[in-house]
Amino acid sequence: MALTVLGIETSCDETSVAVYADGRLLSNVVLYQVIHERYGGVVPEYASRAHMRTLVPTLNLALEKAGVTLKEIDGVGVTYGPGLVGSLLVGLNVAKGLSVGLRTPLVGINHIEGHIFANFVGEKGPALPSVCLVVSGGHTQLVLIKALGEYKLLGKTRDDAAGEAFDKVARVLGLGYPGGPAIEKAAEAGDPDAIAFPKSFLEEGYEFSFSGIKTAVLYYMRELPEEERRNRVADVAASFQKAVVEVLVEKTLRAARETGARSVCLAGGVARNKKLRDELERRARAEEVEVFVPPPEFCTDNAAMIARAAHFYLERGQTSPLTLAPAPSLNLAS
Ligand code: KG4
Ligand code: ZN
Repeated sequence: MALTVLGIETSCDETSVAVYADGRLLSNVVLYQVIHERYGGVVPEYASRAHMRTLVPTLNLALEKAGVTLKEIDGVGVTYGPGLVGSLLVGLNVAKGLSVGLRTPLVGINHIEGHIFANFVGEKGPALPSVCLVVSGGHTQLVLIKALGEYKLLGKTRDDAAGEAFDKVARVLGLGYPGGPAIEKAAEAGDPDAIAFPKSFLEEGYEFSFSGIKTAVLYYMRELPEEERRNRVADVAASFQKAVVEVLVEKTLRAARETGARSVCLAGGVARNKKLRDELERRARAEEVEVFVPPPEFCTDNAAMIARAAHFYLERGQTSPLTLAPAPSLNLAS
């Protein structure tokens, strides 16, 4: 079935609209909200206000870039959770307005499932079943993708998400927000073996914990004489990044071995991290496991992954009612 699908993503601090039509992404416009940088984290009220201002212009730009008019849209996919309630409401209400005005179906998409679909935006995706490491600012979990739309949660974090740990450690190191890219950059000049930070549950199961390492970094910096702190930032960043990457890669590959999956793949903002991508590829190659990493622009929040997921559900005839409400704490159905 030839379907042209619009995707809308406003769950946190990126305003994004994409057009996806049968195996091809026609456009994916992502607007990053810079206002949060000066507060060191996302301010929910400012996030929803910014979505209000930018969503319709973003929509117009995405349509223009795709060379598609609203009349040609066969369905509207939108993130309805998890995320910030005010931000979700902006995307949901625009999507509902379009659905009513265009007499076209609405498809609510779970943001975590959207991240997983980032692996299937291009022509080639990971072989299924695949173990997907979902690592974002809000979530860290290992998911077995049995088939598209069919998942089994293998394990998740007991406390902080990996991205949250990057953001909090960056704040301790005075590196600004968002922390992930800042730590990755600072780590380039550091020695990853300088400090042995704790690697929680490395040997056990599929659960994660990142609050211990965050506290360890805080204590390490506090105990340094003030004049030495600045000189140690690169080594701390590199050692922290190495410890986190090691736990993530180890558990992902163990899950692949133990579930007999045909491949492993990555999803979520932290999957942009080059050390994580490289280390997973290096270790997977050694173990002869197929590995798939989505292009970096599909790892952080974007609407391409939402449009792709909505296309999948529309093809199956699965749509959502116009009463669909935001679900800030939605989990992945498994
Ligand atoms: O998936 P995402 O865009 O939003 C959520 O759904 O949370 O992920 C954002 C998270 C932030 O915590 C950010 O610091 C982290 O992804 N991140 C990174 C990198 N780029 C973004 N973490 C490590 N290395 C990066 N290069
Ligand atoms: Zn996300």
